[in-house]
Amino acid sequence: MQLLKTKSGLRNFRKEARLSGKTVGLVPTMGALHSGHLELVKRALSENEVVIVSIFINPTQFDNPEDLSNYPRGLERDMEALETLGKPLVVFAPEVDEMYPDRVDSQRYNFDGLDQVMEGAHRTGHFDGVGTIVEALLRLAEPTRAYFGEKDYQQLQIIRKLVENRKLPVAIIPCPIVREADGLAMSSRNARLSAPLRAQAPFLYKTLQRAKAMFGTKSATQVKEFVRAAFADHPEFKLEYIEIANADTLRPVMRKGKGKKYRAFAAAYLGGVRLIDNIALN
Ligand code: PAF
Repeated sequence: MQLLKTKSGLRNFRKEARLSGKTVGLVPTMGALHSGHLELVKRALSENEVVIVSIFINPTQFDNPEDLSNYPRGLERDMEALETLGKPLVVFAPEVDEMYPDRVDSQRYNFDGLDQVMEGAHRTGHFDGVGTIVEALLRLAEPTRAYFGEKDYQQLQIIRKLVENRKLPVAIIPCPIVREADGLAMSSRNARLSAPLRAQAPFLYKTLQRAKAMFGTKSATQVKEFVRAAFADHPEFKLEYIEIANADTLRPVMRKGKGKKYRAFAAAYLGGVRLIDNIALN
């Protein structure tokens, strides 16, 4: 395992890989690695000759300073988790002033409205922050392929748009959501749930599964009403949003159309922890 902390270190590494004609996979993360991340890394290892895992808690994508300071950290533990894969990897783990030498600020992007709904509507500036760091990482690492989980499905669509708009020569590889045995989508934030709250957490995915079962026969409005009512009855969860949207454009569904793909998206607070999840409806 090779640990790089500087952009110049990563550039040099990338140059050597290019000279020897190697394919490069990039797995961008904010650390606190769990099995979901490791699945992305395993996939990247199976499809590329060299794999770079970036570990960087990107301050510009947090709209809430408390969320940023509570975000789980631990580079040593992350390195140990990556070691368990038993394959050579490059970890790029820069400090904040390495990635933001002048100002800790985002660029402004036009994502054709993909950022105006759901996470974007509830977390001001979040996707400008994601765009800024992902564009920087893609330009530095120049990967052949970059891997993103469908748990952050809106982020995935936005990164695809960024790559298209900026004409970056990289294949964006979507990877399915990895779930705990009880259905909870794996997330670094799950570590912040107390044991009693952790026991309640699968309710989010279970409710999305029930929404999916209804979607065949009910309208999007009826399904969303059902989800809102289910959360209103839950003693611990506070629903932030439920949306049913076109899986490509992320536009909320007014009337179901033939041949279109839809997904349900939800964000909810459990205690002070914000959880998100989504499910393909058809
Ligand atoms: O999904 C994440 O962990 C982050 O948003 C990403 C893509 C690593 C950018 O900071």
